[in-house]
Amino acid sequence: MCGIVGVLGKHQAAPILVDGLRRLEYRGYDSAGIATVNNGQLDRRRALGKLVNLNDHLVLHPLAGTSGIGHTRWATHGAATTANAHPHASGRIAVVHNGIIENFRELRVFLASHKIEPQTETDTETVAMLADWHLSQGLSPIEAAKETIARLEGAYALAFLFDGEDDLMIVARKGSPLAVGWGDGEMFVGSDALALASMTNEITYLEEGDLAIITRAGADFFDAGGCAVTRQRRTVAVDATSVDKAGHRHFMSKEIAEQPVVLANTIKFYLDGQKRRELISENLDLAAVDRVVMVACGTASLACFVAKYWFEQIAGLPVEVDIASEFRYREPPISGRTLTIFVSQSGETADTLAALRYCAGKASQVVAVVNVIESSIARESDVVLPIHAGPEIGVASTKAFTCQLAVLAVLALEAAKQRGACSDKVLQKLTSDLWRVPSLVADALGTDAAIQVVSAQLARHDDAIFLGRGAHYPLALEGALKLKEISYIHAEGYAAGELKHGPIALIDEQMPVVVLAPHDAMFEKTVSNMQEVMARGGKIIMISDAEGVSKAGDSTWHRIEMPQFESHWSPIVYSIPMQLLAYHTACEKGTDVDQPRNLAKSVTVE
Ligand code: AGP
Repeated sequence: MCGIVGVLGKHQAAPILVDGLRRLEYRGYDSAGIATVNNGQLDRRRALGKLVNLNDHLVLHPLAGTSGIGHTRWATHGAATTANAHPHASGRIAVVHNGIIENFRELRVFLASHKIEPQTETDTETVAMLADWHLSQGLSPIEAAKETIARLEGAYALAFLFDGEDDLMIVARKGSPLAVGWGDGEMFVGSDALALASMTNEITYLEEGDLAIITRAGADFFDAGGCAVTRQRRTVAVDATSVDKAGHRHFMSKEIAEQPVVLANTIKFYLDGQKRRELISENLDLAAVDRVVMVACGTASLACFVAKYWFEQIAGLPVEVDIASEFRYREPPISGRTLTIFVSQSGETADTLAALRYCAGKASQVVAVVNVIESSIARESDVVLPIHAGPEIGVASTKAFTCQLAVLAVLALEAAKQRGACSDKVLQKLTSDLWRVPSLVADALGTDAAIQVVSAQLARHDDAIFLGRGAHYPLALEGALKLKEISYIHAEGYAAGELKHGPIALIDEQMPVVVLAPHDAMFEKTVSNMQEVMARGGKIIMISDAEGVSKAGDSTWHRIEMPQFESHWSPIVYSIPMQLLAYHTACEKGTDVDQPRNLAKSVTVE
């Protein structure tokens, strides 16, 4: 993961770099650092932990210079320590890197043969060492960087800064995104356009294998073969204003609370006619495809899994859902009649992007369902369907998940319509149900106080199980993922009917079991599984509507009463108690809700 930023500017670089890093902290917060060229000399400052620590360090030990590079780290090779923090330096070179250099051990052997030994545990330091060795062989900085990059295997976005070179930065990308920003007599570099939002909105994205030589006068681009190329300069719409918590204690709670509004916007955007026609009906021939393949990671993949039930039940269209890290290496057959859909909040998830590239040219079309429309996944797709969730800052995905579901619901409806899979009456009912979702989500937020009571007790447990059936089964997986991600409680989700095939052995008087049991066609079956747990002493947290609670809520440990809504779209509404349960349990445990340990918002390494 990691975020990188660079500037060849007119003003002091340090505050500009720190501002860029602040916008990139969603990529990792294990450590941060900057390097500048000051009076011709490279110097750097690094600090362990979040960016605020680097900021404090810079107050005591300022760093001057108008050229610089910066980095916020999510550790891959080597522990989170100050020594392993970027920028890495060797002799006359400093470098920041996002990605993984897979052949760094071989390169170390080569460097050791020249008596050059590493000072850190990182793969990145090898890049700086190798480039400096090339300099020592008499190459110019540009040639040294080119020779070094030619020897790297793996994934990288790299920015090099050189001692004695105040007006030169060399950047390169392979597998990790990188953008060059254009200013007036100044140039910038960032992992994404957002990092540069306060500096410029004139952006050139490097393409795969590109290298750019940057001076204050501009940038020259070279493709993977070393040929000079022109890369498009575009004006992007990114908002420089920083997002605040609007009075909430955490971004996550703000983002949970925003859902009635953002869902209403998303549903209106797609159901109001024109956009649905332009973006979906006129772009996608859903009658001509014989299957859909949906690929994503984490929570986004669980949105796909919920949508599988919808596409199959409503549109009669078979759907395969795969997690991108498996899909990309499995070489699955994709025919010209397969529609592929890639779902990603960030639009930068490395595995999802690689899976997309595998399908491009094979599938009938490549569709992106993304929140960040200036993202790599959006740029490389045939059709982009924005989810309009607005910036999601909390690492745990909440509003992006429900907005992804809303867009996938519209797509399922469209597929049903184009394929003639449902009568007009059924389609109308499904459509009017979807319009009702935002207000039902608002009602579901009314469970907050009751869920706080449950969370206070759940927080004292080490494990939890989540059960659901049908489209609420993936939601059980999502509930478990959310809980473990921010409260660090071990949690697993299961299809309720699968419990007796093994997991029931885990049930004892200490085991909390969250049961998603809306009063729908599956209710009696889910309740039977719930009884099996209760018979073995398990502590049931039943999440159902008034009818469900009155029929089967007796003797449960806790009951959360949800609005009555028997509809295919019920998983969108039932997402709310999953999010609130995780949130309040994490608050009760005092964890870092918005930036939980070991995680990053955007996973740009595989
Ligand atoms: C969600 O709470 C997670 N933090 C994570 O699973 C996330 O959904 C996943 O990494 C995919 O990210 P993306 O949507 O940006 O591709």
